[in-house]
Amino acid sequence: MFNLTDKVAIVTGSSRGIGAGIAKLLAAQGAKVVINHRSSPEAADEVASAIKADGGEATVIQADVGQNNEALSLIKETIDSYGQIDILVNNAGTTRDKLIMQMKPEEWDLVLQTNLTSVYNCSKAVVRPMMKKRKGRIINITSVVGLSGQAGQTNYAASKAGIIGFTKSMAKEVGSRQITVNAVAPGFVPTVLTGVLPEEQTQSIIQNTPLGRMGTLDDVAAAVLFLASDEAAFITGQVLSVDGGLVMQ
Ligand SMILES: NC(=O)c1ccc[n+]([C@@H]2O[C@H](COP(=O)([O-])OP(=O)(O)OC[C@H]3O[C@@H](n4cnc5c(N)ncnc54)[C@H](OP(=O)(O)O)[C@@H]3O)[C@@H](O)[C@H]2O)c1
Repeated sequence: MFNLTDKVAIVTGSSRGIGAGIAKLLAAQGAKVVINHRSSPEAADEVASAIKADGGEATVIQADVGQNNEALSLIKETIDSYGQIDILVNNAGTTRDKLIMQMKPEEWDLVLQTNLTSVYNCSKAVVRPMMKKRKGRIINITSVVGLSGQAGQTNYAASKAGIIGFTKSMAKEVGSRQITVNAVAPGFVPTVLTGVLPEEQTQSIIQNTPLGRMGTLDDVAAAVLFLASDEAAFITGQVLSVDGGLVMQ
């Protein structure tokens, strides 16, 4: 089940956190994985080394995926190295949490560019090679906040809700070529990103989660693996929440 041998996968923002967890699991299932980062070369090398130590294959490519030209280089370098792209996981993301009254235009722009424009940049760049192969998997990491909203996160929630609209629209455009486009919506997973949440908010999230705990990197990676697999061939345009029941749609 879920064998990715001979597949090539790019995971954006995979130098740590959820992206690193996804990259490791896809590699463990046989995929050749491109580890991408913007500004953490050492952490990215550590992820690649861990994959190789487990007998997998990984390459590190630096690119700020919010910048169109850099996203294009990431995809081109991957094709130059491996000759194909089978799986794109748009995971890179960031936060600049502020109430709307205090949010500066540059904090809005940075979050939208990193979280949403990056999804357009990378997805557009892979669509032609995937169309030629008449096969492909695009998995976009959104957030339950994109479904529920969250005070202090208008920029982040807008970017994540935007990803959901993008996912459904692109799924309709490319379905006839057997390319699937889905989104995974994690709930609360402890990472550098969520480390900045106040303790009070962390406890309240856990209390409101029916499964009574935070998510793990493995919880999210398993959902991505499924959607990346041949077994998920008839699933597209969907949002799979991995949140312990925090936000039920
Ligand atoms: N943790 C959660 O609870 C949670 C919940 C829902 C959704 N998510 C989503 O899951 C994804 C991963 O989050 P995380 O918690 O693992 O965050 P994280 O630990 O902060 O990791 C973010 C990763 O993205 C990379 N990155 C950031 N901006 C980039 C850019 N412009 N270009 C390329 N790489 C970039 C970072 O690398 P550099 O250091 O090199 O920039 C890092 O590898 C995000 O999309 C986030 O919104 C997380």
